[in-house]
Amino acid sequence: MCGIVGFTGSRSAAPVLLKGLGQLEYRGYDSAGIAVLDGGSIRVEKVSGRIAKLCEKTRDGAAVPGVIGIGHTRWATHGAPTDVNAHPHLSNDGRFAIVHNGIIENYLALRDELIADGYVFESETDTETVVHLLEHYYDGDIKAAVMKTAARLEGSYALGILCTDAPDTLYVVREASPLILGIGVGENYFASDVTALVSHTKNVIYLEDGEIARLTPASITVCDCTGREIQKPISRVTWNVEAAEKGGYEHFMLKEIMEQPAAVKAALAPRFRDGRIRLDDLELTAEELRQVNKIIITACGSAYYAGCSGRYAIEKLCRIPVQVELASELRYSDPMVDEHTLVLVISQSGETADTIAALKECRSRGAKILGIVNVVGSTIAKLADYTLYTWAGPEIAVATTKGYTTQLAVLYLFAVCVAEKLGRIGAEQYRNAVRALQSLPKLLQQTIDMNYQLPSVASRYASRSLFFIGRNTDYAVALEGALKMKEISYLHAESYAAGELKHGTIALIDENQPVIAVCCNEALAEKTLSNIVEVKARGAKVLAVAFRGNKGIVSQADDVVFIPRIDSIFSAALAVVPLQLLAYYAAKEKGCDIDKPKNLAKSVTVE
Ligand code: F6R
Repeated sequence: MCGIVGFTGSRSAAPVLLKGLGQLEYRGYDSAGIAVLDGGSIRVEKVSGRIAKLCEKTRDGAAVPGVIGIGHTRWATHGAPTDVNAHPHLSNDGRFAIVHNGIIENYLALRDELIADGYVFESETDTETVVHLLEHYYDGDIKAAVMKTAARLEGSYALGILCTDAPDTLYVVREASPLILGIGVGENYFASDVTALVSHTKNVIYLEDGEIARLTPASITVCDCTGREIQKPISRVTWNVEAAEKGGYEHFMLKEIMEQPAAVKAALAPRFRDGRIRLDDLELTAEELRQVNKIIITACGSAYYAGCSGRYAIEKLCRIPVQVELASELRYSDPMVDEHTLVLVISQSGETADTIAALKECRSRGAKILGIVNVVGSTIAKLADYTLYTWAGPEIAVATTKGYTTQLAVLYLFAVCVAEKLGRIGAEQYRNAVRALQSLPKLLQQTIDMNYQLPSVASRYASRSLFFIGRNTDYAVALEGALKMKEISYLHAESYAAGELKHGTIALIDENQPVIAVCCNEALAEKTLSNIVEVKARGAKVLAVAFRGNKGIVSQADDVVFIPRIDSIFSAALAVVPLQLLAYYAAKEKGCDIDKPKNLAKSVTVE
């Protein structure tokens, strides 16, 4: 959830750290800090609030001399987001400074032990135990102290460590939290995400659990948890720094909404060859697929809602029963999973703690795991038996948009490909499905172009509370639309299966309750239309999302947002776009911090 960075070289470290933190701010933004080593002592500057405040305090780093340092942007777990709880934390003797992303689960026991040994704690954080442990185990050998400390920690951590006794050297260690090393020329870096590295270098090393690295300006050495040196492959980042910048848009979220046609194209295009879908990374034969008697899709948040849409496509085309489970529930549910279950694990970041735990739970019961992941080299991508990357490129806004639509695109590919392999759809249905998917990027662009009027619609519908309704695939879209609205505009939103309204919640409908009705499932359009009539009869103002040419809806809804026609199985990928824009413009009208909504962080690496 937090972001950490480190730099060692021969130029001023603080500006590099602050820039890196700015690029990681999406991971957490309630406080920030840097520690820079200069003249034999470590200077720490930290503030509660945004990185801009830290930049102001340090005059963009100019006030903090030194050529080696570490930095942190925080999403508070233990202790309020105050200056004192902000990282970096210092050891009592001032020799060590550390930054930490993750959670130390046994910190209370460690804290008691350290207090009994005379260590003085300043903060309420779990992290502070780590820096005192380092001091405790240090006898002149930093690597040994790091290893002994790591051996005492339970939970998840990516740690960046600075020590006054090694004035050009950084140490890092990881367990279940992302950590990437950047290889520069005469300088080296570490960060929680490659987005903070690409402006310096495209050559990176992905650290694995249990590994420890030592970085000097001229070298990087990595060893395993026993201290044995290991050779790590160098990976090349394939995207440019511009991909992680706003490129003229006011917000990353708007940029990422607009990037959806290109992102979905990147997810789909390489997987079509000679009019057929080729999922080279899914090495399951027809025979192996025939052994699968159940598919479980597991994920969190929007990725879970992508799974809800995917379920309809898979069940309809493949005729395999699909269960969609929240990862945070599945992990503790004693799930009925065995070697005949295929588990689809969906995650943009590939680092979501609950999703990783659900994956491990299912794996331990014999299931095969297919990861649908955006971030290359992430934990889920590594743990899965097969990984289909969504190729959305870096997603910076906390609220996912292109991450979600590319997940849908990959789920649709999976559904059509597996259905054909199993002989559950005929040649013509297959050809039509392939054609529909090939047209998705173009139709997404049309959807965006057709919805130029959304800012004014949003200002009329952004009331204190909204209802989102739909049936089947449209219900899945309603779930995602309501989440988008809640998380960035802070307006209350309910999503309901339209047919369920009259079982209780219709009591809430009156003239003050706007309803957003998704009506893009042609087989059920008439049914949803009757629900629209029902809520209108109770005074609600209705905004409908429907296929272009749906005349019936114009006479019933107060406002209609149209999308191009596509086979209803795939319509969620288009229907979600006006809902993303609606949330965006509602949040903008309210003056919300769209890219960094309060209390949230992009990558939820804690339970
Ligand atoms: C909502 C949102 C979150 C994520 C969820 C899972 O806009 O972004 O609900 O979808 O935290 O994250 P990943 O996909 O990284 O596992």
